[in-house]
Amino acid sequence: MNRKKLTTFIACCLASLGMQAENINISTPRTSLVVDATNGQDLKFVYYGTRLSAADLQTAIDVESHSYSAYPAYGYNCAAEPCLAVRHADGDMTLQLQVTGTETRQEANATVNVVKMKDKKMPFFVNVCYRTYNDVDVIETWTEISHAEKKTVTLFRYDSGCLPIRRGNVWVSHLYGSWANEGRVSEEPLKPGMLVIENKDGIRNSHTSHGEVMFSLDGKGRENDGDVIGAAICYTGNYKLRVNTHDDESHLFFAGINEEASEYHLKRGETFTTPVLALTFSREGMSGVSRNFHRWGRNYQLAHGNKVRDILLNSWEGVYFDINEEGMDQMMADIASMGGELFVMDDGWFGEKYPRLTDNSSLGDWKVDPNKLPNGIGGLLDDAKKHGIKFGIWLEPEMTNNPSELYEQHPDWVIKAPGRDLLYGRGGTQLVLDMSNPKVQDFVYDVIDGMMTKYPAIHYIKWDSNMNFANHGSQYLSADDQSHMLIEYHRGLVKTLKRIRAKYPDLVIQNCASGGGRANWGYMPYFDEFWVSDNTDALQRIYMQWGTSYFFPAQTMASHISAAPNHQTQRVVPLKYRIDVAMSGRLGMEIQPKNMTADEKELCRKAINEYKQIRPVVQLGNIYRLLSPYDNLGVASMMYIDDAKDKAVFYWWKTETFVNQHLPRVKMAGLDPTKRYRVRELNRIDKTPLKFEGKSFSGEYLMANGLEIPYTHNLDWGKQIDYSSRVLYLEAE
Ligand code: GLA
Repeated sequence: MNRKKLTTFIACCLASLGMQAENINISTPRTSLVVDATNGQDLKFVYYGTRLSAADLQTAIDVESHSYSAYPAYGYNCAAEPCLAVRHADGDMTLQLQVTGTETRQEANATVNVVKMKDKKMPFFVNVCYRTYNDVDVIETWTEISHAEKKTVTLFRYDSGCLPIRRGNVWVSHLYGSWANEGRVSEEPLKPGMLVIENKDGIRNSHTSHGEVMFSLDGKGRENDGDVIGAAICYTGNYKLRVNTHDDESHLFFAGINEEASEYHLKRGETFTTPVLALTFSREGMSGVSRNFHRWGRNYQLAHGNKVRDILLNSWEGVYFDINEEGMDQMMADIASMGGELFVMDDGWFGEKYPRLTDNSSLGDWKVDPNKLPNGIGGLLDDAKKHGIKFGIWLEPEMTNNPSELYEQHPDWVIKAPGRDLLYGRGGTQLVLDMSNPKVQDFVYDVIDGMMTKYPAIHYIKWDSNMNFANHGSQYLSADDQSHMLIEYHRGLVKTLKRIRAKYPDLVIQNCASGGGRANWGYMPYFDEFWVSDNTDALQRIYMQWGTSYFFPAQTMASHISAAPNHQTQRVVPLKYRIDVAMSGRLGMEIQPKNMTADEKELCRKAINEYKQIRPVVQLGNIYRLLSPYDNLGVASMMYIDDAKDKAVFYWWKTETFVNQHLPRVKMAGLDPTKRYRVRELNRIDKTPLKFEGKSFSGEYLMANGLEIPYTHNLDWGKQIDYSSRVLYLEAE
């Protein structure tokens, strides 16, 4: 029997058994995912990769293996890792999920395919859902778990989804790091065994590691060619990603909420919805996967995703806790004079009974300290108006300190186990509020609502979060449901963020958590951007921003010009270089302008002016990473190009300086080969223009050859600098 006859024969047999073979093609403009949702059978994975034509789809269905479960459940013929593991009320630990039907529904720009499954014996149900959009190459998958058993069912594992990845020379790229060293890239070949990437902080889920990965399918990942799968678990809390490789033809990738210390008691009639796992595939290398995530993020997952961000000055590294009205006025005047658009007053402005003089008191007491700010927030807003800029303010709404008035009034609102001592975080006194408690949710909502009602001119909030779950214990949840704490906290947080967003859709909110502790797509529907790191050292930022750009677009990456010596590394980096690095993200400043010379201010004023021109290309454009700092070749380089391929911004940063150094010449990518681009250097400090200044080149030439960039700056003796960087603006003629 040939294959076609065999397939027909199988289909007939299934039909005679009352089972309809149904393969679902879940496709985006350039990708396809195929699952076999035959009634009465387990849901099977068939294919994920480049978009299939109708003919290839049929062939793929005929020839590809239908042997991997698309949502394996523990207990019945599930030898490998499961996505789901439960104990039924009667003690049975088995699930035998069978497809009972499929449904398709249309949303604005999206199609949702739902595969419905039921356990063969018990009234236990799982819907596996897939959302695709008609204009981005990301597939969102998640599950809805419910039952109609008489008593509670316990869930031990509840992944969002899984994906078999054909073995070969597969490399995984992911991000790790910690406070002041976020977003570091790690790349390694997948080997037999279990790779686990997880977070257990409870609050800051992109410190230690990130919830996103890339799988390069044909050897160590390359930026601009090669097949790459990208995956991102979109969740605000603890997650776990696993890649299980045993003696089999596929690596099995799983992603979901971290189930540790979180067994979940699912009541009859309740639905447990797992977070979205976003999947993408590109034939254009790792930068291609990044562009897919960025476009999806901007269109569907990020607050104000298709708007450019303001250029701001944040007060933190300039004055730390030393807030006062005069000082704020001076900083506002300075940023306005340099062309900035927004001033953000960071920590230290609040606390009446307990003034916030350092980090050991007052969180939760969100009333201005009248000694520091006699005219209150209203006075600051008047000042901002006078200087023609917008105003933003720092808050840490999920936290308190002992001492604070809030803690005195509500000691039962903090995370703490009964009969155990309080465990403090930052400042030796910080505590986490229990967001699972509806009263705490209301309090947090009221903090924002109260402030915005009284001062509607506040444009921006920096929402910080500087502590982990140092101990386990909710004073709100029942003794039985203590294992729900990690999940209920985040449900409460998201519910509150949704309420805030519903009332204040235009408010700009920065997501900060001890620097870059909350860079996860699960947060971004409620936030406009995140603070990449408390480390503002330009050289180290190249490495951190490089990694972060794998998954997040430039307008989410707050990137500030700060002082020299840098406050975290003590490194002295020339202002030109600090500017050139900050300008590759959402540009801002984090410095005391009062301490800058007139020349330095002038350089920043020029940079801000130039950034305004290139801002749409940087913040809304398409990324092409060219030369990685992690390759240790002495230089790092990347570029952004607008959709029309008419405008591009090229960055080149030397990462080390030696005499008689030999650096690779960087070829550009992503340009239109047939267009001619005129090149102009931005932030120029050299005495003489570059050889190619004002000249035009074909996209073909720039991509085949690149430009020869001098290794040093041409400056007067005594003014020379030990760092070198260039930003070039390319405009099609
Ligand atoms: C955290 C943030 C900083 C700053 C301080 C204020 O560390 O990451 O940017 O806001 O808190 O205390």
